[in-house]
Amino acid sequence: MLKRATFPAGFVWGAATSAYQVEGAPHEDGKSPSIWDTFSHRPGAISDGTTGDIACDQYHRYPEDVALLRQLGLAAYRFSISWPRIIPGADGAPNRAGLDYYDRLVDELLGAGVTPFPTLYHWDLPQWIQDDGGWANRSVIGRFTEYADAVVRALGDRIGTWTLLNEPEVFVSHGHEYGKHAPGLRDPDLALRVSHVVNLAHAEGVRTVRAAAPRAAIGSAINMEITYPASDSPADVAAAERYHAHVNAWYLDPLLKGAYPVAFVDQDAALAKMDIRPGDMESLATTFDFIALNMYSRAIIADDPDEPRHGLRRIEGPGRRNSYGWEIWPAALHRLVRRVDRDYGHPVIYITENGCADNTGPGADGVVRDASRVQYLADHLGQLARAIDDGCDVRGYFTWTLLDNFEWAVGFSQRFGIVWVDFDDGARRIVKDSGRWLRDLVAGAPLEYDDSLE
Ligand code: FCB
Repeated sequence: MLKRATFPAGFVWGAATSAYQVEGAPHEDGKSPSIWDTFSHRPGAISDGTTGDIACDQYHRYPEDVALLRQLGLAAYRFSISWPRIIPGADGAPNRAGLDYYDRLVDELLGAGVTPFPTLYHWDLPQWIQDDGGWANRSVIGRFTEYADAVVRALGDRIGTWTLLNEPEVFVSHGHEYGKHAPGLRDPDLALRVSHVVNLAHAEGVRTVRAAAPRAAIGSAINMEITYPASDSPADVAAAERYHAHVNAWYLDPLLKGAYPVAFVDQDAALAKMDIRPGDMESLATTFDFIALNMYSRAIIADDPDEPRHGLRRIEGPGRRNSYGWEIWPAALHRLVRRVDRDYGHPVIYITENGCADNTGPGADGVVRDASRVQYLADHLGQLARAIDDGCDVRGYFTWTLLDNFEWAVGFSQRFGIVWVDFDDGARRIVKDSGRWLRDLVAGAPLEYDDSLE
């Protein structure tokens, strides 16, 4: 049995969302288009043909959503700020009306006793920056720091924790290598170069935010899929490590350890494609006050020299699947937190995303019985408690997500919320069983979980 008391005093319980996935209002108050506004309108880009034009309409309904957080007893809200609301054009001038929206949101949260936990970049790059080469053009570094500075100066007096980037690996690979996310490019070499520019912008961003908010805690949300070798063979073990380096460590090691991890069979050839210039490695070096982890599943990796993608083959695991098809393997969260604790010198860790697609809708009585999500949360929190028990310094847990929302390339077809959203009926909200379950846990109720080790 687990209880709230199993987690350390001061442990932060929250829920997360991101701007494009919930806000809607794409043209309001001076906002210019982001790459997701452009991409989602491209025929065929989103599997169910939808866009985030309205999404959960949080731009207009934020008081209702803040009230929901309060009703659920959640002490923190992780949301992201939309860059093109703040800097709509190439002149770089901050848009007061855009900043005002986040001003109101932050004040509403604080008024409800909910701590704002903002993320500066959750994938919605201004289209005007993309038109100038986006994350492939080093000029984005200055653009990012300009934007970060404007936001932190406007809101910093009320924010204790800044998260800079959300899942750099995902927006680099899905956006530039696989073409499944905005801006929809399919060029592995470009993706490699982009990864370096993103890392440079990231490090410069940390320095900018620290200068503007010296007392705030600073980190980034890194997606991590802990990796299991398909067998004990040295080749599979080495392949699993290459995958770990490529997906999990590529956006942390250069900043925190001063070097790119070995992720490629021919690492020198990969580095040669990256346009690493004199002085770059020095300017990558920085520190974080915490490492934030987004975790959903795990990866099982086999070595396969015939695989075009770096000789890595992904093996399907035996675990249950969520409605999106992702394997559910709660013990992976324990293993992940232990590894990050070991590899990065016992950092402060937040789980900034963890959750489950479960498309259960309201029954005839209007109740949403999303039992598989309840199970998912219980089992993952159980594994997180094990890691804390082992001595890892985990300070908070944000479930993905507060509201069913626009799930990127699959539109509204996958629901991750602890609150149901009726997208046909003016985005009406209904708290699901999982929302009530989390509320009860946070209020002190005991919970059952699966304590199996692997
Ligand atoms: C993560 C994203 C988040 C959401 C979840 C399901 O990769 O950060 O926006 O889409 O996946």
